[in-house]
Amino acid sequence: MLNQTVHIVPSTNVSTMCADKEPRKPLRLIAAACNNMGIGKDGHLPWDLPTEFKFFLETTTNVSLPGKFNMMVWGRGCWFSNADSLFSMMPNVLHVVLSTTLSTLPEHAHFLCQDFDSMISLALLQPLCDLVETIWVVGGPQVYQEALVHPWCELIFLTDIMADFDCDVFFPQFDRSIFKKQQWFPGVPNEIQEENGVTFKFEVFKREICSAEVI
Ligand SMILES: NC(=O)c1ccc[n+]([C@@H]2O[C@H](COP(=O)([O-])OP(=O)(O)OC[C@H]3O[C@@H](n4cnc5c(N)ncnc54)[C@H](OP(=O)(O)O)[C@@H]3O)[C@@H](O)[C@H]2O)c1
Repeated sequence: MLNQTVHIVPSTNVSTMCADKEPRKPLRLIAAACNNMGIGKDGHLPWDLPTEFKFFLETTTNVSLPGKFNMMVWGRGCWFSNADSLFSMMPNVLHVVLSTTLSTLPEHAHFLCQDFDSMISLALLQPLCDLVETIWVVGGPQVYQEALVHPWCELIFLTDIMADFDCDVFFPQFDRSIFKKQQWFPGVPNEIQEENGVTFKFEVFKREICSAEVI
């Protein structure tokens, strides 16, 4: 019902926008990175960690009320690296694919945007502004980079894969004096995990200086 291609320009008709005077959605990143901050190799994850994947699914599909959705934001490469079966495991999610080259909506996606700001505008338009709780940015690197500098960006869920893997894409560097590692975060297991001979830990970094203070 919500599938469409969206090329929003900044002058979007304000009458279709959220009534809230200061519309804003929580924007969060989620990723898993190994020792050198590598996140992928040859278009895929370098590791096979079902528990980590389950955490990703549970975290990004969680909404507080029936009828609400999260928005999941994908770069084109990341989107097409997934098997079709993934999308049936994601209730309550509206998928937004970012691409400057695609002209038709990919199968299973709900929206196609040509840039990050169009996606942000989309979240503020009716009907999405009333439906969407959280914007989850799921990669790859360029999308993460744009999300990290966006003023709505509040949390980075970054699983620390405590191992070396050969990678060709990397999580961007971010300022750890602005995004501070939380000793504990609600709903996030605190103990070190082990699976398939690999140890890993779910970490959450929270923005503790607002963007106005940084400027
Ligand atoms: N470990 C993890 O947590 C994790 C998470 C995500 C991804 N990954 C890995 O990362 C790799 C995929 O990354 P990737 O290098 O292919 O990057 P990607 O960001 O998924 O795809 C790059 C493409 O996305 C589009 N794009 C990205 N940002 C855009 C923007 N702001 N506006 C418009 N279009 C935008 C562009 O498509 P056009 O060329 O069509 O313009 C760009 O060429 C895979 O190996 C995957 O497994 C790992």
